[in-house]
Amino acid sequence: MNEQPEMNDFFTEMVLKLGAAGIEQPRLEARLLLAHVKKCEVAKIFSTINLTDEEKQNATELLKRRLAHEPLDKIVGHREFFKADFIVNRDVLSPRPDTETLIESVLKYYTDLGASLQILDLGTGSGCIIESLLLEYQTAHGVAVDVSAAALAVARKNAKKLGILPRLDFVQADWFATDFAENISKCGAQKFDVIVTNPPYIPSGDIDDLAPEVRDFDPRSALDGGADGFDSYQRIAEIAPELLVSGGRIFIEAGVGQAERIAAIFASKGLKLVEMRADLAGIARCVVMRKK
Ligand SMILES: C[S@@+](CC[C@H](N)C(=O)[O-])C[C@H]1O[C@@H](n2cnc3c(N)ncnc32)[C@H](O)[C@@H]1O
Repeated sequence: MNEQPEMNDFFTEMVLKLGAAGIEQPRLEARLLLAHVKKCEVAKIFSTINLTDEEKQNATELLKRRLAHEPLDKIVGHREFFKADFIVNRDVLSPRPDTETLIESVLKYYTDLGASLQILDLGTGSGCIIESLLLEYQTAHGVAVDVSAAALAVARKNAKKLGILPRLDFVQADWFATDFAENISKCGAQKFDVIVTNPPYIPSGDIDDLAPEVRDFDPRSALDGGADGFDSYQRIAEIAPELLVSGGRIFIEAGVGQAERIAAIFASKGLKLVEMRADLAGIARCVVMRKK
């Protein structure tokens, strides 16, 4: 008995609808949605038996969400980043492959994976940066900061799932607060060997023009970098020198075309430029600065 044709019809219909809605990889996305509904590996969706009525209903519901441009990772509730799988929802920025440049850069400068580094993550979101680092540096300790309590709840779930909860503290704080550095210094480590940050850096006026997947489903607080996109960089440059140990480094994610100005902002606060590291598309994505 071969029941695949019905599955193929359902799949083809999904692909056509996704394509018509302007989704870039309709076949791949249809496969991923079906694999999620069938709770099977993507490669196995055509060799599994047909969809039950309930699965068809589920798949139709999920398709409707994707056709409304909700990103696939937020529909299925998780996303791969570097070497791990992170829970995501609408309270956090979907981790981007470009951000892996920060992890690679830290690994380049801190080659001893047994080093007991103290790491601070400013704007942790899902926790993808700091938690990837704590998985690499098995005796390191981290502090994950975010202004959003909802984002911190996701980061905490991820830390638990990845088995690193005992080595990570969570702090809800706003880096624009005047006593921010003082408060962070009070939790655990007083100063940090490494700071990582991927702050919001989209100019406010550009947000309406972003793809609906980003504009409507990533939190505004994860995107909006103020009038020219540099508000958070300016503020983080003011507080970073106080929070770094002497010789410590900060790894800053840059938006397209922002790296030179970021380096200048941090240099004006006494940090020394170490490197501007490009992502796979050749865009200067990670600015590395060092405290003398
Ligand atoms: C671009 S997202 C980065 C999330 C995650 N680190 C990543 O790379 O996927 C920026 C994060 O900074 C947080 N954030 C924005 N403004 C903040 C502020 N003033 N103080 C603390 N956190 C802030 C946002 O809530 C958001 O989670």
